[in-house]
Amino acid sequence: LEEVRVHSTGVLVLGSGIAGLYTALKASEHFDVTVLTKKGLPESNTKHAQGGIAVALEEEDSPSLHYEDTLYAGAGLCEADAVRALVEDGPLRVEELIRMGAHFDQKNGRLNFTREAAHSRRRILHANGDATGEEIEKALVAQTLGRERILVREEQFFLDLLKNSQGEVIGALSLNGKNHKLEIYLAKAVVLATGGLGQLYCYTTNPGVATGDGMAAAYRAGAQMMDMEFVQFHPTALFIPGAKRFLISEAVRGEGAHLVNAHGERFMEDVPGKELAPRDVVARAIWRERAKGQVFLDFRPIGLEKVTQRFPLIYQTCLDYGINVLEDLLPVAPAAHYMMGGVRTDQQGRTSLPYLYACGECACNGVHGANRLASNSLLDGLVFGARIVEDIVKRAQSSTHPSPQVRDVVMDPEDGLESHSKAHVERENLQEVMWEYVGIIREKEGLEKAINLLDQWDSTFHPGREIEELEIKNLLAVGVCVARAAVARQESRGGHYRSDYPEGYAHTINHSIQIRGINDVG
Ligand code: SIN
Repeated sequence: LEEVRVHSTGVLVLGSGIAGLYTALKASEHFDVTVLTKKGLPESNTKHAQGGIAVALEEEDSPSLHYEDTLYAGAGLCEADAVRALVEDGPLRVEELIRMGAHFDQKNGRLNFTREAAHSRRRILHANGDATGEEIEKALVAQTLGRERILVREEQFFLDLLKNSQGEVIGALSLNGKNHKLEIYLAKAVVLATGGLGQLYCYTTNPGVATGDGMAAAYRAGAQMMDMEFVQFHPTALFIPGAKRFLISEAVRGEGAHLVNAHGERFMEDVPGKELAPRDVVARAIWRERAKGQVFLDFRPIGLEKVTQRFPLIYQTCLDYGINVLEDLLPVAPAAHYMMGGVRTDQQGRTSLPYLYACGECACNGVHGANRLASNSLLDGLVFGARIVEDIVKRAQSSTHPSPQVRDVVMDPEDGLESHSKAHVERENLQEVMWEYVGIIREKEGLEKAINLLDQWDSTFHPGREIEELEIKNLLAVGVCVARAAVARQESRGGHYRSDYPEGYAHTINHSIQIRGINDVG
């Protein structure tokens, strides 16, 4: 039998984006914490965020206005109490982030807010123009490395959750990416903060690490998944054949850029909100316009000087691709960007499995409904990360939960690692199927075709210890969840658009829930 190293900790945090690191920092005020991350500490979706972090801190703003805007964008599917928690706790958490060393752009000595789609106020904080995520991640990484009670383990690929005979989550099984050996991490509480699944699609703004690992592991462990059909497609990613779909921040439109078609016409003029309509509306409008010809962003209405000051990263990246946005129109197209669904949680971040919590993009607490309001995701990670720690502390004070031992682990034989793959699935094939049939516009026949294909691939593909293969296995698991939930939702709402059900939706909250082996979608 293979020797497996066993580690014990108080709180185990899986993932190192804003949700993971902020949770780890807060938890380290009370417990020993271990953070596992599959690459280097700073590599996450957070690092790539541009537009910023939405928070009602401006004089003319208020949490109640932020609440209204979030609900409006969420297309009738937001959990009102979760949204209230987000907008009311938000200012405190952002102030704390600033104290931790995140510097946001200022004007005349005061925080400088920008606007993005569907926000009724200027409420988006940004850093170094359009490199907000990098600034936040840098501050959190510095804090994390300075904390004695946090142990960081990089290059650890999280394989599966570990449970005891009572079904309580007591840790995680991990694959050490350097030596390909298994490791066990036991903890009194486990926090999933593993991020999103943009890599399900061939066109995405997400980095290569966004492969839905945490969602897939939670699903395998029997956790409830919620609203998995709701994938957000960002309207404007750079569109140059063969190049990565680099994000062109919505703040560009917030500062005045226009969307134009191949004839130079503004095709959003007649839509309420114009270029700043909710993100799903703009993404579909671009999709339709692109059936007729190219779509471009015209930066010139922003003002030449402001473009280079406010968007230095976008300006330089486009220049690297040979496009000077001060002079030329920039070709853009939608790309998969954010997952609204995920592991179901309550407002304290508790999942349906005891002692398993989730926050950030891998979690679904109902705060984003069917369509996330721009720049609410970084705030979500902070607010619910802090709430999780409050809950763990409260539980630790009121009961003595014994430290788990390795003998408590009950292994599910189905989840064992095989030593060799029996068949191979190419990530590109999976991504193309998802884009074609489970993308921006969906319909029954295509969704069923995708489900059949994915199920077939999933049943024959048994990865060994290659991380690339394990990621594909996870993508297959979450891809099937997305497609099944999408075929079951016979309406168009927010990020989920069915061409066979194009009319509006009923104003009732109707979340989709999936549990492995029990019910698919209910
Ligand atoms: C952007 O800068 O447009 C992205 C912001 C977000 O996804 O919230």
